[in-house]
Amino acid sequence: MKARIVTLPGDGIGPEVTAAAVQVLDTVANRFGHEFEFVEAAMGGYAIDECGDPLPPATLNACKTADAVFLGAVGGPKWSDPNAAVTPEQGLLRLRAELGVYANLRPARPHPALGFASPVKEDRLQGVDLVVVRELTGGIYFGAKHRDDKSAWDRCEYSVEEIERIVVMAGELAMKRRRRVTSIDKANVLDTSKLWRATTERVVRERFPEIELEHLLVDAAAMHLLSRPADFDVLVTENLFGDILTDEAAMLTGSLGMLPSASLSGDGPGLYEPAHGSAPDIAGTGKANPIAAVLSAAMLLEHSLNLAEEAATIHTAVDRVIDDGVLPPDLTVDGDGASTDTVTSAILAALRG
Ligand code: NAD
Ligand code: IPM
Ligand code: MN
Repeated sequence: MKARIVTLPGDGIGPEVTAAAVQVLDTVANRFGHEFEFVEAAMGGYAIDECGDPLPPATLNACKTADAVFLGAVGGPKWSDPNAAVTPEQGLLRLRAELGVYANLRPARPHPALGFASPVKEDRLQGVDLVVVRELTGGIYFGAKHRDDKSAWDRCEYSVEEIERIVVMAGELAMKRRRRVTSIDKANVLDTSKLWRATTERVVRERFPEIELEHLLVDAAAMHLLSRPADFDVLVTENLFGDILTDEAAMLTGSLGMLPSASLSGDGPGLYEPAHGSAPDIAGTGKANPIAAVLSAAMLLEHSLNLAEEAATIHTAVDRVIDDGVLPPDLTVDGDGASTDTVTSAILAALRG
């Protein structure tokens, strides 16, 4: 098949891990006889430096007409002044809104050989295989905001429709998995969460009667994710809670550098990005773990191009490289590990078979 993939390398380690993902997609294309065209576009701090806009119109247009969009990471100290009028992160939020990618899937399935790399005890990691379905285009991220010299506020709002569609996405996913959904909210305090809980309860009862639904308050959920991670199948939650809980969930796999993501709208192009950021502390050192980006590329194949078999070969290749002990520094005990290029080359070699 032919596909046009827009890549937005962005800032910090973004370009380093995007290069790895592109090489992986290229290798898969060669092996299976597909034709992927990669179109690179400016985004984030890089685009601010270039033209003052973190999401230039040409980039947005290219994304909207693509078959899929791959993003490395945006942001960094250069653009982090709290008084800056324009930030890389604004560009990312606008891109998510413009593409309408309201469902952000972040799967965490620890590799059995990486138990030592997680701060969670190894026996608790056995059987962990979960997906967080994070609402991505609503809530406090997108509500009205205000700041003056004396105070500031961010409004958190959810409509019934926004909650319904994300719960349906989570329910459909759970039906293909272990049929368990955990909805996470703060319904003991927040009105948005009370609406979230009531709506979730109704949607699951009406549309997914076979699903076992559990509700957790977000503070307790943060604890349960560490104490009994294997109990979870699909977790569904609002934008901000999902942001925080997925960085936590990443540590079940050993590193934030392992957590991929797919952001889906249901119709238009999907947006694929590792869950991690631009990691300014290691940018340019060759220490970036490319696996979150590579697994995001696998999600792109599966969700946007309907190439499940090709996606599976990427998972097999990554598993094999980990089994072979080719590990980046974030997955080693002494912080001494294989470079981004070495890990990527090992994945490419495994893919070629
Ligand atoms: P971060 O995710 O960039 O880094 C957190 C820690 O994890 C750092 O110690 C970093 O070295 C490590 N880490 C992250 N990815 C790694 C990888 N692939 N391999 C090895 N180690 C890795 O979070 P931060 O430092 O809080 O944020 C830095 C910047 O990134 C901020 O400007 C933030 O807004 C931005 N950010 C962007 C995205 C995105 O573009 N999707 C996501 C998160 C954060
Ligand atoms: C993420 C990031 C973004 C978010 C930032 C960079 C806007 O942390 O993708 O998890 O908060 O959604
Ligand atoms: Mn985040």
